[in-house]
Amino acid sequence: MPYVSSRFMHIFRAVESLSQFLEESEGRVGFVPTMGALHQGHLELVKEAKSKSDIVVVSVYVNPTQFNNPDDLKNYPRDEEGDRSKLESAGCDVLWFPQESDMYPDGVHSEQFDLGILENVMEGSFRPGHYQGVATIVDRLFSAVRPDVAIFGEKDFQQVAVIRRMAELKSHPTEIFTASTIREKDGLAMSSRNLLLEPNYREASPVIYKAMKRAGEDRENMSPDHAKAAAIREIQSSGLDVEYVEIVDSSTLSSIVKWDESEEPRIFVAAYAGKVRLIDNLKLN
Ligand code: PAF
Repeated sequence: MPYVSSRFMHIFRAVESLSQFLEESEGRVGFVPTMGALHQGHLELVKEAKSKSDIVVVSVYVNPTQFNNPDDLKNYPRDEEGDRSKLESAGCDVLWFPQESDMYPDGVHSEQFDLGILENVMEGSFRPGHYQGVATIVDRLFSAVRPDVAIFGEKDFQQVAVIRRMAELKSHPTEIFTASTIREKDGLAMSSRNLLLEPNYREASPVIYKAMKRAGEDRENMSPDHAKAAAIREIQSSGLDVEYVEIVDSSTLSSIVKWDESEEPRIFVAAYAGKVRLIDNLKLN
C-alpha cells in the first residue's frame, strides 16, 4: 500500500510514495520538519505554513545523526499516534514519517558542510557534530519534499542559521521563515523535551525566561558582560546547571561587549534542569 489516507490527511512512510504524491499535486508546498512529540509550538508552525502555501507537509523523524549523546537519542519522546491526531486537527495535508533506509541509504552518518562560525559558538561548540547532523537531514528532507517554503521555530535560532547556510550551499530554492517561540504561561519555551522534566525542575525552569528578560531591562547600568553574569547567577540559584549564557549580535552570532555594537542584541541560554538540557533565546531590544 503506497500510503494510508485519512479523510483530511495523507500519511506516507516511503519516500517514493511521498515524492510521487507531491509530483501529482498542484500548488505551493509548505514544509514543517519536526522530530515529533508535537506541542502547540509545532502547531503554530503548521498554521504559519498554511498561511504561506497550498499543501502543508509535516515530517516526523527523530534524526540519529544530530544526537551527540546516545542516551538523549534513546530517551527522546516519541508519540506517533498523538502526533497524527494533532496534525489532523491542525489541518496538515501530508504527514510523512521518513524511514531510516531512505534517509541514510549509505549508513547512518552525517555529510560535512562548511558551517563556518556556526559550528564554533554556543550549540555548535557544546554539541559537536550536532549541526552537521541537522544540515544533513534537512538537506535530504528538502530534496524529497522540494518545498516552496519551510518554517522553523525561533527557539532554535542558531539552527535556523545553519539551515539557511546549508540551503545556500546546496542551492535549495526554498524560502525559509521563522516563527516566534511559543511559551507556557509561566514563560518556559515549549519543547518536546519539557515532557521529560521532573516536577521540581519543571517548576524551576521558567527562571530561564525571567533571567533573559531581566538581562535586557537595565542596559543603561549594565554592560552585556554584567547582564550575562547576572543571568547566570539567577539561573544557577534556581537549581539549574548553566552550560552557557551568551549575549551576541543576532545576525553574526558574535559576542558583544557594548550594547551599541549590535542593532539586534540577543541572549542565548543552555542549561540542564536535572538531566534535561533546555535552550532558549530572546531579542534584547
Ligand atoms: O528542530 C528539529 O526538530 C530538528 O532539529 C529538525 C529541524 C527537524 C531536524 O531534525
